[in-house]
Amino acid sequence: MIISGYSPGAQKLRNAVIVLPTYNEADNVANLIPRIFALQNLTEFCIKVLVVDDNSPDGTQAVVEKLKLEHEELHITTGPKRGLGEAYKRGFAYAFEYLDPELLFEMDADCQHDPSFIPLFIHLTEFGFSLIIGSRFAPGGDTPDFSAWRKFISISGNWMIRFFGGISRIQDCTSGYRCMKADIVRKCDLSGLSTRGYSFQSSLLFELLRNNARVIEVPIIFYDRKRGMSKLSFADQIEFLINIARIRFKQSKEFIKFAIVGLSGVIVNVGLYYALTRFARINEAYAQPVAVEASIITNFMFNQAWTFRRRNTANGTAGKFLQFHVIAGLAGVLNYGVFLFLLRYTGMFDLVANLCAIACGVIINYSLNSRWTWKTISQKI
Ligand code: GDD
Ligand code: MN
Repeated sequence: MIISGYSPGAQKLRNAVIVLPTYNEADNVANLIPRIFALQNLTEFCIKVLVVDDNSPDGTQAVVEKLKLEHEELHITTGPKRGLGEAYKRGFAYAFEYLDPELLFEMDADCQHDPSFIPLFIHLTEFGFSLIIGSRFAPGGDTPDFSAWRKFISISGNWMIRFFGGISRIQDCTSGYRCMKADIVRKCDLSGLSTRGYSFQSSLLFELLRNNARVIEVPIIFYDRKRGMSKLSFADQIEFLINIARIRFKQSKEFIKFAIVGLSGVIVNVGLYYALTRFARINEAYAQPVAVEASIITNFMFNQAWTFRRRNTANGTAGKFLQFHVIAGLAGVLNYGVFLFLLRYTGMFDLVANLCAIACGVIINYSLNSRWTWKTISQKI
């Protein structure tokens, strides 16, 4: 794709801020930063680079200060070393205060991320995407130089986040190359993210999705760094695992809400059945289906307005209403099957068997509705 025709000299009103966290990257920034600014005339955005350095002892800051003489839009913020996540939080805060960003980039400063993707990522934001991920694990992406061990860590880490976090549609959840609409990042509660190290990447991803980011993954090849060393530590990997448990717990809030709504449905069902048969004196055979339908309707409304309200869903309300019914029917049949099975083959006490059957019904109901009825929009290249 050719994106050109923007005069570098013209006044540009929209800013894309590339945030580069650095710790001992003197050689790498000297190479990378001029390559980023060379892209300035390929986009209508004004490209600004913000280096977030944690007082690197190797002279990274001196290199940046020298480059600043040539590049007006090069900025730097310095501070103590507290990990990659803390560096990004500080960088974003600085960008919001001084650089007026419309787009924010996350990018490694060690030349492992090819800067020539920047104009493409910016371009994609013009099509309604608010989060563009440079993806190592989408088809076409690769990590050719990873050792077998690093590959295993990276793929299994991603798999855990995708599976436990319920975001299997996103293939690279820990990528450090992203372009985000600043408006969405502003909405994210970054100070509430307790992650300090690399797991900040996945925490931020969940915050962005919670704020309805529209995501697209662009495959990238992630070659090994040529200079310096990776800073990924064992402590980072432990924090990553703890963070997955935290994310899982946050995600289960939806399930708890779904179960509460289900309980309210039981009250609607029993209450209406009682009122229809006792006060309105309607025959049980008619009252029962009316009560069931009423509880399905109220359950649907509460789930729509409360349980899944944050989701950016693919289906319209009428479609969802129909799907909700189909699933209720399926879960009802399954519920009955489990009940009969437990009663016949395990000799379980009938009330306990009924409770188990209800639990299975709720889980099936939740899983199907979460994955199908309230499926969130996703796009892939
Ligand atoms: N300011 C600051 N403070 N920068 C840091 C710190 C820190 O504590 N730790 C790392 N960085 C900077 C590095 O200098 C580099 O520019 C960038 O963050 C990425 O660090 P690497 O140490 O090179 O990470 P990696 O290549 O091993 O890890 C890659 O994969 C991870 C997930 O698999 C990167 O793409 C990460 O961003 C990604 O999360
Ligand atoms: Mn690296």
